[in-house]
Amino acid sequence: MPDFKNLTLSTRENILTVTINREKKLNALNKATLNELKEVVQTIYDDKEIKGVILTGAGEKAFVAGADISEFTELNEMIARKFAEEGQEVMEQIENCHTPFIAVVNGYALGGGCELAMACHMRIATQSAQFGQPEVNLGIIPGYGGTQRLTQLIGRGRANEYLLTGNMISASKAEAFGLVNHVEADKEAALNRAHEILITISKKAPIATGLVVDCVNAVFNDENGYQTEANAFSRCCGTEDFKEGSRAFIEKRAPEFKGD
Ligand code: COA
Repeated sequence: MPDFKNLTLSTRENILTVTINREKKLNALNKATLNELKEVVQTIYDDKEIKGVILTGAGEKAFVAGADISEFTELNEMIARKFAEEGQEVMEQIENCHTPFIAVVNGYALGGGCELAMACHMRIATQSAQFGQPEVNLGIIPGYGGTQRLTQLIGRGRANEYLLTGNMISASKAEAFGLVNHVEADKEAALNRAHEILITISKKAPIATGLVVDCVNAVFNDENGYQTEANAFSRCCGTEDFKEGSRAFIEKRAPEFKGD
């Protein structure tokens, strides 16, 4: 794994924790950090030893407080389109990755931070977490997919409310809205919960879990999700892991999946 300036990486039981490490700036996503995230995501695609990823922010105050506003002065209409497209690409890579990502949201997840958390496959928040898309306060709108994913996750009426007012969503509201999977008392408990879920997933057949990601994403893409599911189901039935899974059930033992 390469060395990063703004990310800290650690691995335990094949689960990689990526911590965005700009605590003094509330882990705001500057260009350099976004590029590092892109690089780490590409490494995760290539490294089959990584069975799951926890994405979190350094410290207790923020997951990510947004794109780095100090870099906004250079934006004009042309550069802004590229800015949005580059950010959207990283979010899409996370969303489409067959290695599951869980965002552990340990404080503010605003703007690009909320968008990053929403691109992950699941979100676990601490009680103090606050979500929001406050871009309207700056005279802009979300550019890293926030208008789309917030609507997908919490529904049209609520998304309109929070996108138009810029108000924050507390952890308890986020849980009630389905924006987060679980709320835990503190960061340690949230990290443990995420680790536990990823370990459970890591024991399943990787081809099947990867295809689940594709099929769930198909709901939101312009494709026939039922067809995607039928194709994926058929593909699973051609794998060695499927044979092993059925054999293990009949032999009353735990399956040993190999990813082929
Ligand atoms: N971009 C750049 N710097 C940011 C930032 C961002 N999105 N969010 C916070 N920071 C910086 C602050 O400028 C400050 O830096 P400084 O100490 O050098 O002045 C530091 O992080 C701490 O933030 P501060 O505002 O002092 O903390 P707070 O507790 O008073 O407020 C927030 C916390 C999150 C409410 C506030 O920082 C905020 O509104 N941030 C911007 C959120 C936003 O609009 N995000 C979307 C961007 S598109």
